Amino acid sequence: MCGIMGYVGPRPAAPVLLEGLRRLEYRGYDSAGIAVERDGSIEVVKAAGKLDRLAELLDGAAPAGSVGIGHTRWATHGRPTDANAHPHCDPTGDFVVVHNGIIENFYDLREELVANGHEFASETDTEVLAHLIGEEYDGDLAAAVRTAVDRAQGAYALVVMSTRDPDKIVAVRMISPLVVGLGDGETFLASDIPAIIEHTREVLIVEDGEMVTITRDGVTLETMAGEAVDRDPLVVEWDVAQAERGGFQHFMLKEIHEQPTALAETLRGRLQVDGKVSLDAIDLPGFAAGLQRIWITACGTAYHAGVAGKEVLETLLRVPVDVVYAHELRYRDPLIQPGDLVIAISQSGETVDTLVAARLAQDKGARLLAITNVVGSTLSREADDVLYTRAGPEIAVASTKAYLTQLCALYLLALRFGSERGVLSSGRVAALAERLLDLPRQAEQALGNAEHVAEVARRISNAQDVYFIGRGLDHAVAMEGSLKLKEISYIHSEAMPAGELKHGTLALIGEGVPVVAIVTQQHVYDKSVSAIQEVRARGAVTVAVAYDDDEEIERYADEVLRIPRTADLLSAPLAAIPLQLLAYYAALEGGHDIDQPRNLAKSVTVE
Ligand code: M6R
Repeated sequence: MCGIMGYVGPRPAAPVLLEGLRRLEYRGYDSAGIAVERDGSIEVVKAAGKLDRLAELLDGAAPAGSVGIGHTRWATHGRPTDANAHPHCDPTGDFVVVHNGIIENFYDLREELVANGHEFASETDTEVLAHLIGEEYDGDLAAAVRTAVDRAQGAYALVVMSTRDPDKIVAVRMISPLVVGLGDGETFLASDIPAIIEHTREVLIVEDGEMVTITRDGVTLETMAGEAVDRDPLVVEWDVAQAERGGFQHFMLKEIHEQPTALAETLRGRLQVDGKVSLDAIDLPGFAAGLQRIWITACGTAYHAGVAGKEVLETLLRVPVDVVYAHELRYRDPLIQPGDLVIAISQSGETVDTLVAARLAQDKGARLLAITNVVGSTLSREADDVLYTRAGPEIAVASTKAYLTQLCALYLLALRFGSERGVLSSGRVAALAERLLDLPRQAEQALGNAEHVAEVARRISNAQDVYFIGRGLDHAVAMEGSLKLKEISYIHSEAMPAGELKHGTLALIGEGVPVVAIVTQQHVYDKSVSAIQEVRARGAVTVAVAYDDDEEIERYADEVLRIPRTADLLSAPLAAIPLQLLAYYAALEGGHDIDQPRNLAKSVTVE
């Protein structure tokens, strides 16, 4: 996720671009840049770091000109450095691009260009697009862009300017968002509405597979095949604050709704339908085959992803997996051996407990694999291998899309290791891959039940205590559901394996106490149902999270939160969605500060 901005009009472009990028900083903030064209020459200013660094560089020295493009980056390919910041140019400097998305086949394209004598100034996937456009240009910028993107696989919103075709911006969209703001004698281009809302409320949405050309004479929208598209602009009613949250009341809700896209990004270019997994630069064949033990270390929600990961990895790989809180691991003398794999999971890559535990693992000779969302974070720099979750910035303190994408990354690892160790048949791998590839769509389906979840949340929002139960993978999800509820609604909650209730906690279950049971694991279905009956017999209000074709569950639960059926081993991301919504709506009912709950910080960088 990155933020893109463009401007054609009578005003100096630089301040308009900078202001727009500020409103898009929630999409990425590890580097930023602008390119401004004047009298057929283009000046690029860019810098690693937050937008303020770019603002400092532009202060008193902004390039003059009233046509320009800008970018705020959330790194996916290449660290956040000055060189990797957008805009990127072709070798002549005549073609300048900014890009949001991922070009999956960029290695191949880059190798081909290098073989033809191209030299690259950055490590990004984006730069290949600038080079390709330069190669293809033959007097028509739109035609060159069309031919170049025809060769690119992946997701993009790509915005292009050229000294050879001045006073013009050409942009294309495939999956990554792009909108055009229609002002009075001026036109804006952006990844999202907040960037342009202070200038105009008339917005044209660019759809997948469309190209937009902006000149001083106006805007042309067409398909990639060159057919004109006639679309009426929308009139946006949101205020600026609402617009920054995509129209949602809170960032948390926005991020919950971003999960289908986030999952698609985690999977993009990494998983084939036959189950073949390619994980960026991670190359572990011999290592994976000889692996004796895996450790997972993390805190909070990331730890819960690790608990689910243990179930998945042990089931599929038949290798022992230890999951240890990072703040516990660091003060132990853990039996980590050289040759073990330690997976450290951290959204931010800056949680100090996780960093210290990860260093300890490396000192003991383990190979350290980081699952993180932030390119260039401390964890990503220190790890031997990194698997990025590509969820985009997570603003709300309560982690949602980071969790789902961490789970997804663990599934990818499990499939990859399973194949490398020869413990999974190709049929099993392909069957799981098919289901995994369907997760983004199913997540969207699960979100469709939000209204019902909100009703149930209202029903439990006055509770003193809520209990979450489940068995196996369902227990891992119960832990995350409980954490979500307590951190934002301030209702005390506990999670436990369903079988553990009768060993003590059942004493606390009485009239009206809500018990949320996650019931997706078919091999223990009857056992989970027995636990629901036990608590119901004591007056509990029972809420089940179950597959949408599970009719039997209606007999035992007072409320059923539905998710689409998938392979049981893949149910965790889907089952988490209603629990996130349950927490959100319970907190909303309580009138709490949902995005910034009391006493908590987004990233815990102190011990
Ligand atoms: O950035 P990290 O993933 O390392 O953060 C770990 C925890 O602090 C974090 O998941 C925390 O538990 C969340 N607030 C939970 O929603």
